[in-house]
Amino acid sequence: MVKCLIVGHGAREHVIGEALVRGGAQLYSFMSFKNAGLEDLSQDVKVHSETDFKEIIKFAKIKNIDFAVIGPESPLVVGIVDALEKSDIPCVGPKIEAAQLEGSKVFTRNLLEKYKILSNVQSIKFTSMDGIEKAIKDMGEENIVVKPDGLTGGKGVKVYGDHLFSKQDIIDYCEDLIKHGGAFLFEEKCDGEEFTLQTFVDGKNVIGSPLVQDHKRAYEDDKGPNTGGMGSYSIEDHLMPFITQSDVEEALDDMKKTVAAVKTETGIEYKGFLYGQFMKTAKGLKLIEFNARFGDPEAMNVLPLLKTNFVDVCWGIIHGNLSSNVDYEKKATVCKYLAPDGYPVSPKKDEQVIINKQKLENIGAKYYYASVYREGESIFTTTSRAMGILGIASNLEEAEKIAENGVGCVEGKLFHRKDVGTLKLLQKRIDHMNSILNK
Ligand code: AMP
Ligand code: GLY
Repeated sequence: MVKCLIVGHGAREHVIGEALVRGGAQLYSFMSFKNAGLEDLSQDVKVHSETDFKEIIKFAKIKNIDFAVIGPESPLVVGIVDALEKSDIPCVGPKIEAAQLEGSKVFTRNLLEKYKILSNVQSIKFTSMDGIEKAIKDMGEENIVVKPDGLTGGKGVKVYGDHLFSKQDIIDYCEDLIKHGGAFLFEEKCDGEEFTLQTFVDGKNVIGSPLVQDHKRAYEDDKGPNTGGMGSYSIEDHLMPFITQSDVEEALDDMKKTVAAVKTETGIEYKGFLYGQFMKTAKGLKLIEFNARFGDPEAMNVLPLLKTNFVDVCWGIIHGNLSSNVDYEKKATVCKYLAPDGYPVSPKKDEQVIINKQKLENIGAKYYYASVYREGESIFTTTSRAMGILGIASNLEEAEKIAENGVGCVEGKLFHRKDVGTLKLLQKRIDHMNSILNK
């Protein structure tokens, strides 16, 4: 039996672990924080820093691990794959140079520009206040997005009109970033509808999966502060009503060109999962960001639909011979995240969460643990998202109902977005897209 190690501790890793076990693997988990779902699926777990490679290698060797799957970005961008592979532990995940696609927005924008990848957007790099005033004048303050170069856990990007409301706001934020010592970008602000395309990459082949749309804002109707993602949906045809098959092919093509460019530029083949977030705009598809991993929540929309054995997909990535025949059930999914009251500003931690598992099973809703901890048989909140509740059905309306009913099986000081996956919100997205394309 193949022995797999999963590194990571969130709902994304819970669903990856589930897919590995469904594929026949014996699972071992290495996590900085004990995920009760992974603990239940695993033969053994170790709770320790996910960037302490020595300890990860030691655990993998003791357990005779065949390969490791790396869930989150933080160990990837500091070279977990390089370290494990040096110790003969094959990995699903990019090496440090290739992981720059997520680790450095400057690297990515330069690469896309150099290789003339069409979905790139105009950007200017800064490491000091020199040239800021001129750039604001040239671009127009209302067209600016400020992005720190490195990882910020999804919370560093500030968009004019959403988080910045004047020239002074832009300048203040730049000064703040400089104080903290990092490079940052001004990016051209795009207007349109976003979608996530998650892919499997074996160095050369880039194989897509059903499109997903995430919801970053904390509250209904896309109001409130940005979060790690409050929920996401996918549709049974694996597209979005406002995204065509040819849009997907165009996005996939740019992802293939990017993977080839990474090889040419760094000499390193990109292997692992590659997440592309695109926006369809009046000027065509635009790349918003790459992530060197699956999305969270988006992994929950895609992996449970996978018909192909996930362990085989992982071997295909490792061996560089990934088959293009990766199949998914033609079903819709809706994932709703339950977050502690007050999240993300002042979340209530250490509050008990009571889960009626029998009722969830009767409804047919799946659940994935995120940042909650278990004491005895009881589950408690931390300061981050608590659990993802997933509905799967033959259409969106049914999937949304299952997810919403599933949410009703969990009690605690928690909130969620009722509107995620509803036909009403979908229609709003369609109307928004139409208004932009018909301008
Ligand atoms: P990121 O962390 O790069 O995903 O950015 C967070 C959010 O900021 C994205 O989901 C977008 O909604 C928004 N965003 C990022 N870049 C742009 C851009 N160039 N134009 C408009 N919105 C953007
Ligand atoms: N859902 C966005 C992310 O995983 O980065």
